Amino acid sequence: MVGEMYRETWVEINLDAIKHNITQIKEILPQETNIIAVVKANAYGHGMVSVAKKALESGATALAVAILEEAMILREASINAPILVLGYVPAKHAPLAARHNITLPIFQKKWLEELNQYQFEHPLNTHIKLDTGMGRIGIRSTDELINLIKEIDNNKNIQLTGIFTHFATADEKELVFYEEQIKRLEELLSIFKQHYTKDVTVHIGNSAASLRFPESMHNSIRFGISMYGLYPSNDVRAENRVELLPAFSLHSRLVHVKKIAKGDSISYGRTYIAEKDEWIGTVPIGYGDGWSRHLQGMSVLVNGRRMPIVGRICMDQLMIRLDEEIVIGTKVTLIGEQGNEIIEMDEVADYLDTINYEVPCMINERVPRIYVENGKNSRGEIKNPKL
Ligand SMILES: Cc1ncc(COP(=O)(O)O)c(C=O)c1O
Repeated sequence: MVGEMYRETWVEINLDAIKHNITQIKEILPQETNIIAVVKANAYGHGMVSVAKKALESGATALAVAILEEAMILREASINAPILVLGYVPAKHAPLAARHNITLPIFQKKWLEELNQYQFEHPLNTHIKLDTGMGRIGIRSTDELINLIKEIDNNKNIQLTGIFTHFATADEKELVFYEEQIKRLEELLSIFKQHYTKDVTVHIGNSAASLRFPESMHNSIRFGISMYGLYPSNDVRAENRVELLPAFSLHSRLVHVKKIAKGDSISYGRTYIAEKDEWIGTVPIGYGDGWSRHLQGMSVLVNGRRMPIVGRICMDQLMIRLDEEIVIGTKVTLIGEQGNEIIEMDEVADYLDTINYEVPCMINERVPRIYVENGKNSRGEIKNPKL
């Protein structure tokens, strides 16, 4: 049947960890600061609808996504909370966003003018995006801002409900540029307030800024990576502001175990030749699942011990060197804990010379997400991390 899991390779998402991480940030934020849960890119690979529901249940009051498609999926899942799209949406799709009460960012006069070509059944909620130094999208100058406010005032299809910016270096040790962005923000906000007197919500902080400067986050934070239990950088992690719990772990099982002789080779290109007789296990996961070929040599956990990936990673399978004969069916953990050992997302990211954000996004939809909530997984089985 479609949707069944016939291959035992899966991602486990611990929804209790999502709740824990939201509770942790709430403890350091002023009571009046709200949480917008950032669930773009399939909730950083964790599964957008399940994470969004859990985040709202755990105290987040709104959601943010990158593209309109993601917002529509949330609405189709009967999620009625406010949703903000962070990225550019072509003006021709603004009426659809308005119909579904989805908030769009606004940062171009031309875009606003284009809206006039379309019919709106409901006014469109918008938040002005300021570019205070990220250099991506947003209003940069005071003149642009004043002009945009004038246009917004004259446009009956638009309802301005917020203004926001995004930091480029909030996770770094050196905070000079962060402070420059704050200064620029304050200048632009003061111009904004002179020209627009209605109340709007102001949100500026990603995980790094919220963890480090919880008192100065204005009305809401946009909480992404740390909601998933990961730190935005080693510098922020070292500051130890909150205790996060990673929600994502990746598992499979041994499907074949064999003894090879000294001189035998493993996988394409014969990049691995056994130096002595040894046990080799085959695991059904590969780059077709998003487990990159660059992870050759990285460890996985079996029976609570580290075993290396040997030979080239194939599209659907990889091989590991076992330290003894191990029973077929034994659980293999590629990210997560077994016994006293752990392979953290950060370790995989370092191995790939990337950031932890990219790793869960890399594991694609071929790998089913199994949710654990209140200690039980979505198949009703009691979760036992030792299995
Ligand atoms: C505009 C914007 N706000 C907030 C976030 C969340 O950032 P983080 O995951 O570092 O908390 C992102 C993520 O990249 C973003 O692009």
